[in-house]
Amino acid sequence: MIIINSRKELQKFALEQKKQGKVIGFVPTMGFLHDGHLSLIDIARAKADIVIVSIFVNPTQFAPTEDLDQYPRDFDRDANLCADRKVDVIFAPTPEEMYPDDASTWVTETELSKPLCGASRPTFFRGVTTVVAKLFLLTQPDFAVFGLKDAQQLFVIKRMVRDLDFPIEIIPGALVRDSDGLALSSRNRYLSDDERSRALSIHKSLLEARELIEKQGLSAIGSALENAKNIMASAGGNVDYVSALDIDTMKPPTPHTSQLLVAAACFFGTTRLIDNELIDL
Ligand code: PAF
Repeated sequence: MIIINSRKELQKFALEQKKQGKVIGFVPTMGFLHDGHLSLIDIARAKADIVIVSIFVNPTQFAPTEDLDQYPRDFDRDANLCADRKVDVIFAPTPEEMYPDDASTWVTETELSKPLCGASRPTFFRGVTTVVAKLFLLTQPDFAVFGLKDAQQLFVIKRMVRDLDFPIEIIPGALVRDSDGLALSSRNRYLSDDERSRALSIHKSLLEARELIEKQGLSAIGSALENAKNIMASAGGNVDYVSALDIDTMKPPTPHTSQLLVAAACFFGTTRLIDNELIDL
């Protein structure tokens, strides 16, 4: 496994691999890897000749009031996990390497990124699409793997790839949970034991919403979301949103909707957690 810190060096490496006909699989991460990330790496390893993992806590997707400085980092641990998973290259640039001082170009998706996390974190998706577009150009992947834990992010990236003609397949990886049901997230480490056990209400509330919608159909969405909100609030959560949207439009479902994203974001203490369920209609 090699570790590359420079953009130029990475792009040169990737272009050489492509010239040799190698299939490149890419997994973008912000590090502090958990089993969710490792499952994405395993998907890439099974399909690619060369697996590239980026580890970069991307400053442009954090608002000034958010947790950029506290975001957990442990490069040596991440590197060992990547080596165990037979990753070929880790790309770990500094923010200064990734963004020229006077960088002034953004990639923005303007529809699917509007609701949910885009409404609560108005500059978040612009940071994500910009860094992912840059990472795609640097890593030249045939495919990239994104987790369904960040379902809206996955749909936004798919739309960006379609709209901007990136010749890259986007492969979804399943959301991975702890044995008690909490969705794995690097931010779970901020939670006290008490907050962590109360945060299980997010998954519980989404499962109840799923059950109600599957049993009673779209007309039950209003009461399903109200019930989900109450479950999280009763556990002491400060609900940011709980919503049910068509995955293709990120708008309320219609009779043509084939898949529904029921998603929630909720604070326990100062930690904002997200989770979701996907329902086939
Ligand atoms: O999902 C993440 O960890 C980040 O948003 C990503 C895709 C690595 C971009 O910084």
